[in-house]
Amino acid sequence: MAYYRQVGTVPPKRHTQHRTDEGGLYYEELMGEEGFSSDSSLLYHRGLPSAIVDSQVWELPDQTTTPNHPLKPRHLKLHELFPKEVWAETDVVTGRRLILGNGDVRISYVVSTQDSPLYRNAVGDEIVYVESGQATVETVFGTLEAKPGDYVIIPTSTTHRWLPHGEGPLRAYAIEANSHVAPPKRYLSRYGQLLEHSPYCERDLHGPTELVHGEGTDVEVLVKHRAGGAIVGTRMVYPAHPFDVVGWDGCLYPYTFSIHDYEPITGRVHQPPPAHQVFEGNNFVVCNFVPRKVDYHPLSIPVPYYHSNVDSDEIMFYCGGDYEARKGSGIGQGSISVHPGGYAHGPQPGAYERSIGAEFFDELAVMVDTFRPLELGEGALACEDTNYAWTWAGRGPGGSQQ
Ligand SMILES: [Fe+2]
Repeated sequence: MAYYRQVGTVPPKRHTQHRTDEGGLYYEELMGEEGFSSDSSLLYHRGLPSAIVDSQVWELPDQTTTPNHPLKPRHLKLHELFPKEVWAETDVVTGRRLILGNGDVRISYVVSTQDSPLYRNAVGDEIVYVESGQATVETVFGTLEAKPGDYVIIPTSTTHRWLPHGEGPLRAYAIEANSHVAPPKRYLSRYGQLLEHSPYCERDLHGPTELVHGEGTDVEVLVKHRAGGAIVGTRMVYPAHPFDVVGWDGCLYPYTFSIHDYEPITGRVHQPPPAHQVFEGNNFVVCNFVPRKVDYHPLSIPVPYYHSNVDSDEIMFYCGGDYEARKGSGIGQGSISVHPGGYAHGPQPGAYERSIGAEFFDELAVMVDTFRPLELGEGALACEDTNYAWTWAGRGPGGSQQ
C-alpha cells in the first residue's frame, strides 16, 4: 500500500538516533516486503523487538482439506458452525474453522465474543471481513476499529489481537493469503496512487491513528508460519509486551476499508465480476457485490448470464440484502456458494426471467475467485447443504425431487 503515514514520534532522518527523554535509545525495526524491495515501515520500540524467552509448538485447529471430488457446486451454511453457546469461549484467532483452502489462500469463519490472544500470520496478509459485530483490533502499528462491512487488512507478520465489543458477537470471514494483497493494479498509478476510475480512493482507507501500549512480562504471541511444507503454529514468549512502539512511519501498515464505501461500476448491460474487484493476491482476487442500480439497456437481463469461468473456483459469501440470482436455492445470509472450475453456473431457475425490468439490486456479497482449485476444510464438511447441486434440475441422484 504505497500511501505514506506517520503515527507517534520518529527521528527526522531514518536510521539515526531516536532517544527517550532520559537519553536512552529507541530500537528501530524495518518491517518490509519482498526483501527490502517493496513497501516498508520503520517502527521505533522501547525494547528489543527480537527478545524472546521461549518458543513452543502451537497446535493449529484442524487444517485438513478434502478435494471437491466428485466435482459439484456446494452450498455451505456458515452460521450453523457457531451456536450461541460457544461464542463466549471462542476468539477470532484460535476459534477459526477452515472452510476452504489451497496453496494460495485459505478461507475460515468464526463467531466470537472473546478477546483473542496476541497473534501474527507470517504466511501472508489477512483480509478479515466483518459480517456483523464490532471489535477493536490492537496492532503493533496502533489501534483500528472494525465495524460491520469492514475489510480489515493485516499485513504479514503484524502482531495484533482482536477485542470484540458492543451488541452481538463478532462474525468474521477471514481470507488468509499466502502472499501480499493489494488493490487491483489497474486502479493504481505507476507510483501507487488510486486512480480516478478506481471504485475507492485513499480517503476510504483507515489506518491506525493512535498507538497502543501493552503492559506485562512473559507475553505470549501465537505465530502462524510455514514449516515442513505445511502451515503450522508456534507460541513465542516475549519478556516484555510487544506493543511498545513510540512511533512509526512508512507505507506498510494495517488498515480498514468499508464495503459500503465501494462505489459500484454499472452499465447498460451486465458488468462482469472484475468490475466489482476490490483486492488481489497471488492467484486469487476479491470482488464485492454491493447495492446498486442495475443494467439499463431496454432489453437487458440484470442477473448474470450462465458462465464457465474455466480457470477459477468462485466462492460467494452472502452477507447482506437479498441475492436475486440465488432465490429458490436455500441460500441466505451467512451462506457460501462454491462454483468450481469445470462446471457452468448461473442463476437459479426462474431468476433469469424474473430479473427483467429490475432497476436496483439490494445485495451484499464478498466473492473470492481462485486460479487453483479449492479443497473443503472441516468447517465446510460440517455445514454443507448437500441438495444444492441439484437445485437447477429440480431432482438429484435417483430422481429424488428437491
Ligand atoms: Fe459466477
